[in-house]
Amino acid sequence: MTKAKVLIVDDEPAARTGLSELVSDWGYETQVAADGEEAWQVATEFHPTVVISDIFMPRLDGFGLLSRLHETYPDTAVILLTGQASIEGAMRAVMEEGAFYYFEKPINTRQLNVVLQRAIERSAVQRENIQLRRQLSEHGVFGKLVGASHAMRQLYTTIEQIANSAVSVLITGESGTGKDLVAQTIHQLSPRSANAFIPINCSAIPESLMESELFGHEKGAFTGAIVRREGCFELANGGTLFMDEIAEMPITLQAKLLRVLENRTLRRLGGNREISVDVRVLAATNKDPHKAVRDNLLREDLLYRLNVIHLEIPPLRERRDDIPLLVQYMVDTLSQRHARTARVVAPNVLETLVRYPWPGNVRELRNVIEHAVVVCDGVTIERQHLPPAMFDGRSLRDEDSITFPIPIPLDEAERQLILKTLIKTGNNKTRTADALHISLKTLHNKLKIYRDEE
Ligand SMILES: Nc1ncnc2c1ncn2[C@@H]1O[C@H](COP(=O)(O)OP(=O)(O)OP(=O)(O)O)[C@@H](O)[C@H]1O
Ligand SMILES: [Mg+2]
Repeated sequence: MTKAKVLIVDDEPAARTGLSELVSDWGYETQVAADGEEAWQVATEFHPTVVISDIFMPRLDGFGLLSRLHETYPDTAVILLTGQASIEGAMRAVMEEGAFYYFEKPINTRQLNVVLQRAIERSAVQRENIQLRRQLSEHGVFGKLVGASHAMRQLYTTIEQIANSAVSVLITGESGTGKDLVAQTIHQLSPRSANAFIPINCSAIPESLMESELFGHEKGAFTGAIVRREGCFELANGGTLFMDEIAEMPITLQAKLLRVLENRTLRRLGGNREISVDVRVLAATNKDPHKAVRDNLLREDLLYRLNVIHLEIPPLRERRDDIPLLVQYMVDTLSQRHARTARVVAPNVLETLVRYPWPGNVRELRNVIEHAVVVCDGVTIERQHLPPAMFDGRSLRDEDSITFPIPIPLDEAERQLILKTLIKTGNNKTRTADALHISLKTLHNKLKIYRDEE
């Protein structure tokens, strides 16, 4: 490891040399400067990790130096020293100007030693954080997707190649890998983006209603059909229809779907008019589609019709280099959403997150970060802010209990409970609704709200 660099600034020669000797005895590389102006010159070459500076100096004082440094080298920590100023005034300036620490002379060297170590740690965290943000803004984001791993880049390239056409796409991947986001991104980048993106979750709609949901019905088509209603295909006309969990669609309905895909026309239930539709179909499943065919869950001819292009999203554990970027992105967005203070993740925490197997993929990572952001009262997410289950070898998905920090907004607690129950039931909405004693419809409404918030 390279030595941390410390720049010492004081207009009094004896003070700066004394301090410089002490600090180099502690094992740091040091340089000195006689005032803020000189320090600024030195800093541009020396790139100090920490600057220890007197406040009252000719030409440029400690505060002036501090604000210049912050603008150009935001990860450099500044420790201010003063001989005589009122503590109150200096403290206020420190709080406002963002100095790392403030000492009155004569300095307590034991304290300085500790503060210096902390300043160096924070600086390292911030440097990494700045790098990640830069990566996020330069590359590593594609539509709504975050990730710069080889696998994700390949995925971005394919999406770019197919976005312009209207070919059907089958998106596969374990639960929580981002199939929904991939579908949204394809739509966003396509010439259809000005028109509707209609998602329909085949596991969520009772079999008896699904046909009408997809193709619509005429007034009086069946008991309860009081008004004429357009189905998802018509609603998505000119746009994109995203059929999620396609292997959960009743096999009889799959035959009808296939016909619509081939003829590009449909009939509403109880209707006799052929209606032509221009819809791009994206389908997703977290099952192995060929196995679903073998298990008679998916018609083979439908699979081939949908599978013109196949996008497979690898599980998070197979693209661990995406984790730091995802974490930074989630800390930023979730902190903002919950109006929280967390901004960065301590290096040892990031290490834990990168090593963890993530059976629930990006969704699970997001839940962990959300938990940490909500319970963390400082700037840095530390180990104790992670859910305890991460450390005892149990998978978070298998956890039977849920802990909330108090206070927590009621709807946030409800949201976590619902999502956790969904994970427990293997994403089975009927069983989740049963377990929570709510109707399937209520569950869907809530899930829709969560999705829209994202
Ligand atoms: N690459 C990514 N970048 C940013 N966020 C992501 C990414 N992948 C997934 N997410 C987030 O993870 C969560 C799960 O993603 P999504 O719903 O797209 O997964 P899924 O594969 O459709 O899961 P399921 O099979 O359970 O429906 C969402 O909150 C989503 O925003
Ligand atoms: Mg999904």
